[in-house]
Amino acid sequence: MKIDGKHYRTLWPDEAAGIVHVIDQTRLPHRFEICVLRGCAEAESAIADMIVRGAPLIGVTGAYGMALAMGEDASDLGLQGAYARLLATRPTASNLKWALDRQFAVLRAAAPAERRARAWAEAAAIAEEDVAMCEAIGAHGAAVIGDLAARKGGARLNILTHCNAGWLATVDWGTALAPIYKAVRAGVDLHVWVDETRPRNQGASLTAFELAGEGVPFSVIADNAGGHLMQHGLVDLCIVGSDRTTRTGDVCNKIGTYLKALAAHDNRVPFYAALPSSTLDWSMRDGVREIPIEERSAREVTHIAGRASDGATVEVQLTPDAANARNFAFDVTPARYVTGIITERGVHGASEAALVAAFPAESAR
Ligand code: MRU
Repeated sequence: MKIDGKHYRTLWPDEAAGIVHVIDQTRLPHRFEICVLRGCAEAESAIADMIVRGAPLIGVTGAYGMALAMGEDASDLGLQGAYARLLATRPTASNLKWALDRQFAVLRAAAPAERRARAWAEAAAIAEEDVAMCEAIGAHGAAVIGDLAARKGGARLNILTHCNAGWLATVDWGTALAPIYKAVRAGVDLHVWVDETRPRNQGASLTAFELAGEGVPFSVIADNAGGHLMQHGLVDLCIVGSDRTTRTGDVCNKIGTYLKALAAHDNRVPFYAALPSSTLDWSMRDGVREIPIEERSAREVTHIAGRASDGATVEVQLTPDAANARNFAFDVTPARYVTGIITERGVHGASEAALVAAFPAESAR
């Protein structure tokens, strides 16, 4: 997608130089900075510190982390160590394990002398597949949006989204926002309610940045506003991304998603999750009990960062010094509250039967 008219992906490799460029998402929306990853340790901290974030992009960065690691130590021990360290960076998104497992299988089968080249090639394949999957999600999701717009007789459609599941969360296009981009390009008149998404404000900073860049009308709202808007008929559709979705259709996504799904259910607002198949965890059935929920630093709750009037980025403390805080990063929306799951293969019911029918080979592995 474009920034100031120039096409960017969130990540682009330079195999000859043995480096990977990424957009530093901790600096957006106020500064656009590129960060260069020169080794596996830098890929690990880029994921852990959320320089890159969003389930699909975490997976692709992990795959390139393995490529960087194979330039450092391509022995069996080096391979196992890089896999374990990258896997430990963030626990919730299944895309990371999916990408690392894929790299590991390819590299274990190769001789150490071949591993570096094989790793760069596999990472590139994973990145290209991510772009293709997200673009296909965009096409399937745009059809859902188009149907709702037609039912509204062409009147402006209001879509609510949570967190950032746009192109910044993937290599390009995004998951929840890809259908919006495609629908807008097809001429659908729509407006997006952007949940600010405390504590890290991925909605207020990243989704707002993306939508502004694409010229999509939007309003940032406080996280607590969605239920009120739905009660007053001001939301026609919710679309969110996912970090891990079970084979039964339970959707894990950024903290606060579940509350939006409850409000959508109470107000009969369709609630869709858009995700590539790399987000599906076929080993799990009960999302609430089984999905590991990341708990991050309490400082992300007690403090907030933003641009001061002199242009400098500053962090301020919100809470009294004595305040205790907890920072749960994700929650699980049970399948019964999910109207449909949009993947690269189409729009499916949020049920084991529908997902297995769409992915027979993958679900049987
Ligand atoms: O903590 P983050 O910013 O990595 O969380 C991202 C989300 O929760 C997204 O909604 C999810 O990864 C889907 S991205 C296409």
